[in-house]
Amino acid sequence: MKVLVTGGTGYIGSHTVVELQNKSYDVTIIDNLSNSNIEVVDKIGKITGIKPEFHKIDLLDYRELDKFIRDNCFEAVLHFAGLKAVEESVREPMKYYENNVLGSINLFKAMRKYDVKNLIFSSSATVYGEAEKMPVTEEYPTGATNPYGNSKLIIESICRDLQRSDRAWNFILLRYFNPVGCHSSGLIREEPMGIPNNLFPYIIRVAEGKAEYLSIYGNDYQTADGTGVRDYIHVVDLAKGHIKALEFMKMYTGLEVFNLGTGKGYSVLEVVKEFMKVNQVNVPFRFSNRREGDIGISYADASKAANEMGWKAVKGLDEMVKIIDSKRDKHSEQ
Ligand code: WQD
Repeated sequence: MKVLVTGGTGYIGSHTVVELQNKSYDVTIIDNLSNSNIEVVDKIGKITGIKPEFHKIDLLDYRELDKFIRDNCFEAVLHFAGLKAVEESVREPMKYYENNVLGSINLFKAMRKYDVKNLIFSSSATVYGEAEKMPVTEEYPTGATNPYGNSKLIIESICRDLQRSDRAWNFILLRYFNPVGCHSSGLIREEPMGIPNNLFPYIIRVAEGKAEYLSIYGNDYQTADGTGVRDYIHVVDLAKGHIKALEFMKMYTGLEVFNLGTGKGYSVLEVVKEFMKVNQVNVPFRFSNRREGDIGISYADASKAANEMGWKAVKGLDEMVKIIDSKRDKHSEQ
């Protein structure tokens, strides 16, 4: 099956390309390389033995995108391309609405023109905003609290309206909780540009001596140890969720939403302690004020994906926190 992966040199996109190729999908990647590196294409080839076709295309360049979709007979599109830094989105909302929303509109227009109407969309748990009760199910009210989350919500609405207007469209919207970790080869991983905002890349930065200590944003939340609780999910589990979604879409028509999480929450302190234990490394930390816009607790009810797609996350926190150095660990997961 010939599939297009937008944003396929990014963190989640690249891990998904590996799993697609492991299942013999014929994968083509487009990416504008604004937040990823073209070397990832060769690294994917090293892991799977098949170097995916790659084209440097920006979704904002409609003419180029239209020609590309016209000249290729894709059967489905997995759409990861987009900006995803919450804090940056607050500072630069237009950059997020243009890249994420307008980019998606261009993609959907080109797909519709050439009758490519199967799409798996990389959405986010951020669309839920502050949920009262945990765990979060797909039926929870949405209400993003930042432009990044709002851009995802707008794109979800476009998918819903498109499907209502033309039943030939099939959409699977996957709401990710907190993706972390990397492929067992260590060849592909999260490569944040500049100083990372997210917890895991920052802990790694401290462990590598590139930062003096970790600031733990708030220890006065209503949680067991007072620090924020999140549903961390290994990126390989997340990637495998996309394979299940593609298989599900073959027997399904319409639009479906799935949470991709583990159903278990870990606090910041629990993550730091597990990281230190598994990697035998010290991670100095200090408690500081809460981060603007943060919520205390968020973890998924992932039972719908288990019941309807037969997908469940299997990797535990120990595998998520394990530092894998591609120079040392040569074995790769097939
Ligand atoms: C996790 C926990 C922080 C950094 C965001 C996006 C979400 C998704 C994942 C794209 C929180 C605490 C963090 C630090 C800390 N991205 N923390 N010190 O905010 O849950 O989710 O990234 O889809 O959409 O919203 O992830 O890793 O930033 O924070 O104490 O230096 O770690 O307060 O409790 P978050 P995060």
